[in-house]
Amino acid sequence: MSAPTTATPRDDPSAACAEHISLRGVSLSFGSRVVMQELNCGFPRGKISVVLGGSGVGKSTLLRLIGGLVRPQTGSIEVDGEETTRLRERELYTVRKKIGMLFQNGALLDSITVFDNIAFPLYEHTQLSSDEITERVHEFLEAVGLYEVDELFPAQLSGGMTRRVGLARAMVRQPEILLCDEPFSGLDPISAKRIELLLCELNRKHGLTIVAVSHDIPSTLRMAHHLTMLFPQDSFEGTLEELLAIDDDRIRNFLSLELDESLSSQAEVERLEEEGSSL
Ligand SMILES: Nc1ncnc2c1ncn2[C@@H]1O[C@H](COP(=O)(O)OP(=O)(O)OP(=O)(O)O)[C@@H](O)[C@H]1O
Ligand SMILES: [Mg+2]
Repeated sequence: MSAPTTATPRDDPSAACAEHISLRGVSLSFGSRVVMQELNCGFPRGKISVVLGGSGVGKSTLLRLIGGLVRPQTGSIEVDGEETTRLRERELYTVRKKIGMLFQNGALLDSITVFDNIAFPLYEHTQLSSDEITERVHEFLEAVGLYEVDELFPAQLSGGMTRRVGLARAMVRQPEILLCDEPFSGLDPISAKRIELLLCELNRKHGLTIVAVSHDIPSTLRMAHHLTMLFPQDSFEGTLEELLAIDDDRIRNFLSLELDESLSSQAEVERLEEEGSSL
């Protein structure tokens, strides 16, 4: 990812102020495997950003870097104005409190129930009463379309249910930044649409900054205000229009593929909704 190219000028100070999260010159290798080289990118405050790119290019790693779960070898990462790369674990905790994270595999604790998985961060980090916690857990389970799942264990959930529980857990502390790794993966079109609408509503009503990784899921493109495209050697960012205006075949190929799928997926959702309403 050397010589990153951006669709918006990075020396525009107003753009920097509007960034809730920014990475400058971030390099990361795992042993001899270079994952990021001099990556520069930013994610605007109160907007929905989508990170696109092929499998293995480093999308999940980017979210883990932002969440402070992985540290880069060089470069700086600012989250809400705080440079996080040199913070000690305890100091990093203050930054992490602002962030909710949906991991690619759900990352639920296997030995406790769905209810406890979601309630756990509230018991650990808030002063809420038991009744308030129960109410909050059910509010977020309902928001992701799950009912009567309190007593189930993660092994008893389908893939799509696991992701929705993971999302409820990421949101339950009402963070100001939500990092979502493939929020629609494994969901049927109606459930995916519900999650898409939920994310848009959280963004619109509460000004939540969302950074979602999308592998090949078209619905994320519909809601994105800002896109970041990762390639093995470089990266691009901007609005969809700005990216489409860049003269680079890789971007056009990637986006046209995604847009075609997006249109057919939208038609599928409308067809299913019509079928549902005529029942
Ligand atoms: N903890 C780790 N140790 C060693 N290598 C790692 C580790 N985490 C990620 N990698 C490597 O970093 C690269 C990027 O991985 P990452 O999971 O970020 O890709 P991705 O873009 O999210 O892919 P996908 O779309 O398949 O989820 C891969 O080559 C992966 O093998
Ligand atoms: Mg990934």
